[in-house]
Amino acid sequence: MGHLKERYLQYDEPQKIMAAGIYPYFRAIESEQDTVVKINGKNVLMFGSNSYLGLSNHSQIKEAAKQAIDKYGTSCAGSRFLNGTLDIHLKLEEKLARLVGKDAAICYSTGFQVNIGVVSALCGRNDYLLLDSLDHASIIEGSRLSFSKVLKFEHNDMSSLETKLKLCEPDKIKLIVVDGIFSMEGDIVRLPEIVELAQKYNASIMVDDAHALGVIGKNGRGTASHFNLTDKVDLIMGTFSKSFASLGGFIAGDAPVINYLKHNSRSLIFSASMTPASVASVSTAIDIMISEPERIQHLWELTHYAQKAFKEAGIDTGKSETPIIPLFIRDDIKALQVTRILLDNGIFVNPVISPAVPKEDSLIRFSLMATHTFDQLDIAVDKIIAAFRQLDIIQR
Ligand SMILES: Cc1ncc(COP(=O)(O)O)c(C=O)c1O
Repeated sequence: MGHLKERYLQYDEPQKIMAAGIYPYFRAIESEQDTVVKINGKNVLMFGSNSYLGLSNHSQIKEAAKQAIDKYGTSCAGSRFLNGTLDIHLKLEEKLARLVGKDAAICYSTGFQVNIGVVSALCGRNDYLLLDSLDHASIIEGSRLSFSKVLKFEHNDMSSLETKLKLCEPDKIKLIVVDGIFSMEGDIVRLPEIVELAQKYNASIMVDDAHALGVIGKNGRGTASHFNLTDKVDLIMGTFSKSFASLGGFIAGDAPVINYLKHNSRSLIFSASMTPASVASVSTAIDIMISEPERIQHLWELTHYAQKAFKEAGIDTGKSETPIIPLFIRDDIKALQVTRILLDNGIFVNPVISPAVPKEDSLIRFSLMATHTFDQLDIAVDKIIAAFRQLDIIQR
């Protein structure tokens, strides 16, 4: 047996959890990503999706995807840099730049690729990347690929950020990279204070709006729009895999920066471009987001209702202010047990346990879609409260 197989034969953590009957990953869904999904032939209420606007199975978006396949085929068979640029890629980039109020934008094939390709490319050996400790894994990976100095500050803690800024040499690039809405905790970045600090220390700002587009800001335009600070943010990043019912991502900013990325960002240049169907889906999803503001309004009504119900039941929802609601359990095994009990009772939620978060922060990530009904929400809340009581996470 080679060393490779020998080493990984010893890796049996997932098998132990499977043996305990509480393995929660790779659950196969046999239907569309909707508020109700089919798992093992059974209908399950979906409260673990990132489809915040509920557009993943919208008939108009499906039709647009089909038409794009008919016209352009299923793949571009190459990178944007060489043979993989379509006219619809360019049109989508213009639309995205207008949407977020920036000069220019460029699309990558996933949001993860945007972050690794942008964060790694922009800062050189003597520059600084300043990251929130709860930034998404793709930002961390980007910083690992960069030659610059990486300084992490405490989550949403402005005095910690200022301490790190003071360590930086004044004449070097200092790029502060933050999530707009933090993906597990559901809190919003303190952008106004970050902008003040950035101005004081001559730093630049990149906001990852993966979870903010379609959720906050004017017509869902994201974090900078939410705070009316679009001009003060240098780079806005977004994914298409959440509110925009597709797959891919973009970075938007000043034209010279986007021009540099187009010619130097390796995950853009050395990876195939977004498929025609994905491009058409995003474009149509944006049109629907703008023309149907009632979706976002309903999402927020559900959010306020759910936050209130969980808090009244004594469930710790942390600092969430958005449709991402963490239900803190603070015990890995109980988080897996709750997930299992809920699935058996027809509710899909995601457990977040160590090492993704420290053991004492393990949680259930409950997330809402604009297409949920209040009846569906009531059913889920009741079952969650019952499961939390059953396992003594909250008192009866
Ligand atoms: C904050 C954040 N940034 C980036 C990504 C990566 O996006 P994608 O799934 O489109 O690769 C995610 C996905 O989970 C995310 O949550």
